[in-house]
Amino acid sequence: MAVYITGGIAAYKAAYFVRALIKDGAQVRVAMTRTATEFITPTTLQTLSRHRVYTDKTLVYDDEIVPHIELADWSDAAVVIPATANVIAKISHGLADDFVTSALLASACPKFVVPAMNEKMLKNAATVRNFACLRADGVNVLEPDAGFLAEGYEGRGRLPAVTDVMKWIQGKIAQSDSSVKDMKGKRVLITAGKTVEPIDPVRYITNHSTGRMGYALAQAAAERGAKVTLISGPTTLACPAGVHVVSIKTTAEMAQEVDKYFAKMDIVIMAAAVSDYRIEKPAAQKIKKKSSTLELKLVKNIDILKRLGQKKKEQVLIGFAAETQNLLENATRKMQEKRVDLLVANDVSRADIGFGSKQNEVTFLRPGHEPLLVKKSDKRQIAEKIFDCIMSF
Ligand SMILES: Cc1cc2nc3c(=O)[nH]c(=O)nc-3n(C[C@H](O)[C@H](O)[C@H](O)COP(=O)(O)O)c2cc1C
Repeated sequence: MAVYITGGIAAYKAAYFVRALIKDGAQVRVAMTRTATEFITPTTLQTLSRHRVYTDKTLVYDDEIVPHIELADWSDAAVVIPATANVIAKISHGLADDFVTSALLASACPKFVVPAMNEKMLKNAATVRNFACLRADGVNVLEPDAGFLAEGYEGRGRLPAVTDVMKWIQGKIAQSDSSVKDMKGKRVLITAGKTVEPIDPVRYITNHSTGRMGYALAQAAAERGAKVTLISGPTTLACPAGVHVVSIKTTAEMAQEVDKYFAKMDIVIMAAAVSDYRIEKPAAQKIKKKSSTLELKLVKNIDILKRLGQKKKEQVLIGFAAETQNLLENATRKMQEKRVDLLVANDVSRADIGFGSKQNEVTFLRPGHEPLLVKKSDKRQIAEKIFDCIMSF
C-alpha cells in the first residue's frame, strides 16, 4: 500500500496510521509532499515503514527507474492521509507538479483520500466541487470528523481516528473484492463517443453521441477484472478508473488505433457512433461566406466494424446499431453483414433513451438466436447485461 502524506497539521497522525498498517502485516511505502516534510520528518516515516520515503528529492534515481511510476505500479492501493485542500484540488484536476501528485496521477489502483482541514476550507465551494469530481472519478473520499480543530474552536474538518480510517479502507476493499471478477485476464477493446470530420480548420461534421454507453461498458468491464482499452472520440466524460484511454477525433484515426490493438484482444466492442462519411477535401483555410450555397463533397469512411468482422479470429466482436426506423430489420441486416457475435440495437429516435440519455433500451441480436429485449434501464445496467451475455457464449 502506498501512503501519501500531504502538508496539513494532521500530518503527524499519518505516522500512527503507517504504524497501524505495519502492525497489521501490510507492506507500506510512503511519499510526502515538500510541505508535509515541514510538519513531520521523512526519517520518522522511513523508520516506521522500513523503506526509503519518496519526496520531491526522489524525482529521479541515478539508475533507469522513474520513481513515481515505480511506486504507482507497485501499489495495490493508494491512501492520501491527511489530504490537504491543495492536493485534493490538484488531483481532482489531474495536476502533477510534484512527486506525490505525479505518482497519484499514474496510479491505476483503488485510491482513498482522507481529508483534514479547517472547516472554512472544507466548506468552500471549490473544495466541495473537488470532492464531487474525485468521487465521480471513482476515488473513495472519507468525510472528515467534527470536533476541536487546531485553530482552537469546534468545527468539521478533523482527521477521523486512525482505527476508523483503517476500518473504512478495509471495508471498501472487502466490498470491491466481493464484486464479480468474472472477466479477470480478459483483454477488452471498446470504442466510444462520436468522431468528428473537419470541413475546414474551424468547422466539422459530427453526431449527438456523448460516449455514455461506451464509458459505462469500460467501467463495468474494468470492475469485473478485465484489462480495458477505450478508444474515445471527444467527450466531457471522466476517464473510468483503471481504464487505458486513447483519444481520437476522426474515423480514420479511430480505425488506425483499433488496428493497433485488435489482434491482442479477447473482446472487442464497437460502441462509438462513427461518421460514415467525411469531407473529401477539408479546406486548409476557413471557408469565407461568399456564395449563397455551398456544396460539400462527402466520401465514405472506412467501415471499421465490417473490416474487423472479416479479419477476426478468436475475438468476440460486438457491434451497436443506432437506428431511427425499422430497428429490428436494419439491425439484423447489420449483424449479418458485419459478422458480429452480438449486435446491440437501439432506437435513437426516442428522446427518453439513446444519445445523451443516462438510460437506454436495447435489443440483443445474435446469429441463430431469437432477439432479446433488454428493458429500459441505466446504461451501466445495460453494460452489465452485455457482459453477462458475452460471458455466457
Ligand atoms: C500551520 C499550518 C497548518 C495547516 N494545516 C492545513 C490542514 O490541516 N489542511 C489543509 O488542507 N491545509 C493546511 N495548511 C495549508 C497547507 O499547508 C498549504 O495549502 C500547502 O500548500 C499544502 O501543500 P501540499 O498540499 O503540497 O502538501 C496549513 C498551513 C499551515 C501553515
